[in-house]
Amino acid sequence: MSKYRIAWLPGDGVGTDVLNAARLVLDKVGFDAEYMPGDIGWEFWKSEGNPLPERTIDLLKSTDACLFGAITSKPKDEAAKELAPNLQEKGFVYSSPIVGLRQMFNLHTNLRPCKAYPGNPLNLRDDINLVVFRENTEGLYSGVEFHPVPEVVRAALGTHPKMKRYDGVPNEDMAISARIFTRAGCQTIARDAFEYAKKHGYPTVTVVEKPNVIRETSGLMVRETRKIAQEYPGIELWEVNIDAMCMWLVKNPQKYSVLVSTNLFGDIISDLAAQLVGGLGFAASGNIGDDYAVFEPTHGSAPKYAGKNKVNPIATIRAAKMMLDYLGEKEKAERIENAVAQVINEGEVRTYDMGGSSTTTQMAEAIAAAA
Ligand code: IPM
Ligand code: MG
Repeated sequence: MSKYRIAWLPGDGVGTDVLNAARLVLDKVGFDAEYMPGDIGWEFWKSEGNPLPERTIDLLKSTDACLFGAITSKPKDEAAKELAPNLQEKGFVYSSPIVGLRQMFNLHTNLRPCKAYPGNPLNLRDDINLVVFRENTEGLYSGVEFHPVPEVVRAALGTHPKMKRYDGVPNEDMAISARIFTRAGCQTIARDAFEYAKKHGYPTVTVVEKPNVIRETSGLMVRETRKIAQEYPGIELWEVNIDAMCMWLVKNPQKYSVLVSTNLFGDIISDLAAQLVGGLGFAASGNIGDDYAVFEPTHGSAPKYAGKNKVNPIATIRAAKMMLDYLGEKEKAERIENAVAQVINEGEVRTYDMGGSSTTTQMAEAIAAAA
């Protein structure tokens, strides 16, 4: 029997290409796992009206961790048009299965390391080493949204003096998405960020919010982060507004180390941080909860490249490496990390995003050979 059971979810588009690439590297380092393929994504939305079938959830529950490829997401109305004819008008509403997984398994912490590998021609600078901690289940992703706004919601909101300026607006001409933060959610992500900084020797944690305007939700996050910071006297807490952060990350990215934010702002800064060190072809994520975790490249499904053996698999190979870290397979994780760094530094194998013409498989083979 294998030591681990790993849920294997390629999903849509290039998901299969990049997961196959990661597999070459996992096999090379001798990771002892049984891989359990599962259904997720657009195909299952179209044919079953559910991009995250129950059987996939059951499969995940029977495994130690999951490696996930990519997902195609479309807005509600466009998604509805692509449903199989027999499923039309049955009331199915599309929602992102990866967001669903994060909430269902309470994968509260999204960890996204973005470091500049020496020799990567795409680095903005070579001295960048950022790690983004993104709260992964709450905030504007809570899914509590209204359109049209029901009368009871309208009446409740009407007790707030600032609602006065919407008095003449009909319910159907208004849409509301709730930004829900909990104290526990804020504390968990802040603590994870500080623990990581402590463990890996980072000097600062920067909380990225907008409490000067969004006083209650951003305010709660900043206040809770300040409390947690007091437990970590050796690590400085910096507070930066999301808009200014976007500017500073382009101007002086080398000054920052661990960044922590809530769901949507964390989503935004993680793409920005990824682009500083080569873009989405390099960016890996761990969606980590108390007793389960899903690892994935940060990039989407890139349908035009699906099956073309073209995209950069480094993001997914790094996601696999993060999975090994999570499972306590430190030595194997390190071999993958060093191999990625070596291949990038040698510069002989480069995918199209790096200005080269190597295929997905060639990149994976080069990393596997070095591991
Ligand atoms: C990410 C992605 C997802 C998100 C999408 C695919 C739903 O952008 O993981 O950053 O918004 O969280
Ligand atoms: Mg994103």
